[in-house]
Amino acid sequence: MINSFMNKPALLDYMDKLNAEKHRLSTIQVRDMFASNPDRFEQFSISNDGVLFDYSKNRLDEQSLSVLIDMAKASKLFELRDAMFSGEKINTTEDRAVLHTALRNKSGKPVMVDGKDVMPDVQAELAKMATFANAVRSGAYQVTGGQITDVVNIGIGGSDLGPRMATQSLREFNDGPRLHYVANSDATDLDDILEYLNPQTTLFIVASKSFTTAETMLNARNAKVWAENAVGENAGKHFCALSTNLKATKAFGIDDDRTFGFWDWVGGRYSIWSAVGLSLMISIGPEDFDEFLGGAYSADQHFLNAPMEKNIPVIMGLLGVWYRNIWGFPVQAVMPYDSRMSRFPAWLQQLDMESNGKSVLKSNDQTELDTGPIIFGEVGTNGQHAFYQLIHQGTTIIPCDFLLATTGYGGQENRNMLISNCLAQTQALMTGRTLEEAGGNPHRVFEGNRPSNTFLYREVTPHVLGMMMAFYEHKVFVQGVLWGINSFDQWGVELGKELLSTIEPMLVEGTSHKAQNSSTQGLLDAIREMKTG
Ligand code: F6P
Repeated sequence: MINSFMNKPALLDYMDKLNAEKHRLSTIQVRDMFASNPDRFEQFSISNDGVLFDYSKNRLDEQSLSVLIDMAKASKLFELRDAMFSGEKINTTEDRAVLHTALRNKSGKPVMVDGKDVMPDVQAELAKMATFANAVRSGAYQVTGGQITDVVNIGIGGSDLGPRMATQSLREFNDGPRLHYVANSDATDLDDILEYLNPQTTLFIVASKSFTTAETMLNARNAKVWAENAVGENAGKHFCALSTNLKATKAFGIDDDRTFGFWDWVGGRYSIWSAVGLSLMISIGPEDFDEFLGGAYSADQHFLNAPMEKNIPVIMGLLGVWYRNIWGFPVQAVMPYDSRMSRFPAWLQQLDMESNGKSVLKSNDQTELDTGPIIFGEVGTNGQHAFYQLIHQGTTIIPCDFLLATTGYGGQENRNMLISNCLAQTQALMTGRTLEEAGGNPHRVFEGNRPSNTFLYREVTPHVLGMMMAFYEHKVFVQGVLWGINSFDQWGVELGKELLSTIEPMLVEGTSHKAQNSSTQGLLDAIREMKTG
């Protein structure tokens, strides 16, 4: 079955048709499409479980959308989706299933990998996490100094970005200890947090799928020394581990009852639904964590059951390919109008760019198509006062996703300002301002026709956040299928990691190791000189 997905991307066969659609639409402004079609908003928006996705402000009409959908069908998008959900090894370069969806599977149905139902293990691990989280939250888990007041998650990449972003976004739901996140090998990342903590009431979570990641292991060792200095041989009890490498967690000195496992079919950037979500669970509690899983499950059901033309992640993915490959727009922005979601763009960067930043097809051939876009973003309204100038009037067109809650923390005045600003921006981007409207001043002209999607929901709850994250996960999957790449490996991070072990010895004074090129050698010499000078 998998081999049938190794063919060249169907998108290549559709380039002529899609370019013809682009050519046709190049002469039409989106604002004119609104003027001539009073149903445009209804026609180009989709709702699911309290989340509204409005994609009507795009360079798209019924005809171009239908060509995109034909292309998705020719790409066997839904066949590959079904293969993913049913546990086929679609991560071909690592020979692994891709089953983060099993971690939030609330159907009661089995999910088989290599002839074994994985659901009993998933549920057992979730129950173990809930017992531990409840004990930490209630104060039943005490080590050397009473109730745990602070939890520090030490991890990087997928073992940091998702839990950090979700914990911060759901701060309103935090009714447990304070949560902190440490990722970088720069000592300030850990020390600036430890400075304010009491070792006796601090719990460290070492989150690492591999339990070999250099930054995480260095931070974990340093945290252990800090704890040992304060509580002596009991330090180990202040640590728990989240990993698939149970041998390494044991070697680090963390007992099995405080080690939470997961499986090789959970990718790092998709791991928040597994044990890697423990910090979030401790923050918001097992019941709200279950709501979070439920939101993602709702998105999964929508992705599985909605027809392509009413399927949010499918439309998101098609729009992305439409702009990347047909219109030639290399960047995609995401703007949550919500301060607590300030880490959402960073989370999305890893999800999208580590998944789809690839140049080789599943067939092992070099791709002829551009793949993953550059993702960036900032919370609204801050971004408006920084880089929106370029988005409105720059020469690079940047399709934007706007994320907006109707209610939330704070008074109505603040909320209304966020809402009005967000709507003003999307309208300005789409409508623009003509030379005539600008009183003949070319500097005040906005060409408009700049694409955006708007996600609207009542409040950022665990359920809504889970759904939003899963929509983006599936969007990334859709695009990977259309481009014919494997979205679930990350070989591009390997070379730098390998070279790290050759460069580090060259920092030692008096070493005979020589760098492979004069730039690296010159920099090393300068570094040694500056260190000693
Ligand atoms: O270097 C990239 C990466 O491998 C990511 O894919 C992963 O999320 C991150 O490092 C952390 O890996 P680990 O959880 O194994 O420490």
